[in-house]
Amino acid sequence: MPKPFAAPFPLSRPRRLRRTPALRAMTRETAMTPDNLIWPIFLQGGRDEQSAIVSMPGVSRLTVDRAVTAAREARSLGIPAMCLFPYTGPESRTEDCAEAWSDDNLTNTAIRAIKDAVPEMALMTDIALDPYNINGHDGYVVDGEIVNDPTVEALVKMALAQARAGADILGPSDMMDGRIGAIRAALESEGHGHVAILSYAAKFASAFYGPFRDAVGASGALKGDKKTYQIDPANAEEALRMVGRDLAEGADMVMVKPGMSYLDICHRVKDAFEVPTFAYQVSGEYAMIEGAARNGWLDGDRVMMESLMAFRRAGCDGVLTYFAPRAARIMAG
Ligand code: PBG
Repeated sequence: MPKPFAAPFPLSRPRRLRRTPALRAMTRETAMTPDNLIWPIFLQGGRDEQSAIVSMPGVSRLTVDRAVTAAREARSLGIPAMCLFPYTGPESRTEDCAEAWSDDNLTNTAIRAIKDAVPEMALMTDIALDPYNINGHDGYVVDGEIVNDPTVEALVKMALAQARAGADILGPSDMMDGRIGAIRAALESEGHGHVAILSYAAKFASAFYGPFRDAVGASGALKGDKKTYQIDPANAEEALRMVGRDLAEGADMVMVKPGMSYLDICHRVKDAFEVPTFAYQVSGEYAMIEGAARNGWLDGDRVMMESLMAFRRAGCDGVLTYFAPRAARIMAG
């Protein structure tokens, strides 16, 4: 690559190209449309109800019928995909996590209902045992250790149930070793070869997930932390290795999570692998922006749009963000 050229003043006056909206539009390097958004939503049981999530002001858990309405709205705003997360009470949490692969659990019920009403909406799921685990972990715990291979077997069952329900994209977020290969092989052999995997490949052991754990009912349940399976926030090379591994095992797309504090990882992943790359602007990132905006400390809409553009500039094809409908409305003008 040639060195960037910048003629000295007064030959060069870079402000010329910043002078008017038209000139700025002509020379803008990065574009963003609703196609770049994936909207994560939280589900709860019951009918025609919703409940606010205190640590995520403006976000509510929705019953399935309201999730269908939300999907219609999202579609009309041009959002191509939604990601579903179930709120689970203590009654859904067991030692064997069997609710995770029930065809009639909240996620699978919602997939069928939304697909029925809004078939063109792509639906993504989360694969991890934490909503169904008595101890809030993404994997089985035996004698205080997260056990890898039995967990992978359970994740495969969970993946197959989601594929049967009609999910378009599976999102393994558990960080167990070997899960992508196992899920891909099972999908192929059970006739779900068309189902895509968006692997949470570069998922860090982050404190930014705090509000999410409130949203899905995991805060009280989680014993200890997730550092034996999620990546240390100090590690970039390890994140790249995990992306390479998940792609080799059959992932179609990869995710970096959290987002805003990990833009270097987004950029390096896109650069090194040239595959569809997504970032998750997680619950804590949402809470920071929205909390400050509601206090009048930040211009919420502008900060939101700037943060989303930063993901695009860093090389992400799209962003999972709780702001998706709001951002899409602003993009529509
Ligand atoms: C669980 C999962 C988490 C998130 C998505 N899937 C939490 C965790 O790993 O503890 C976090 C999303 C967010 O914070 O918005 N496997």
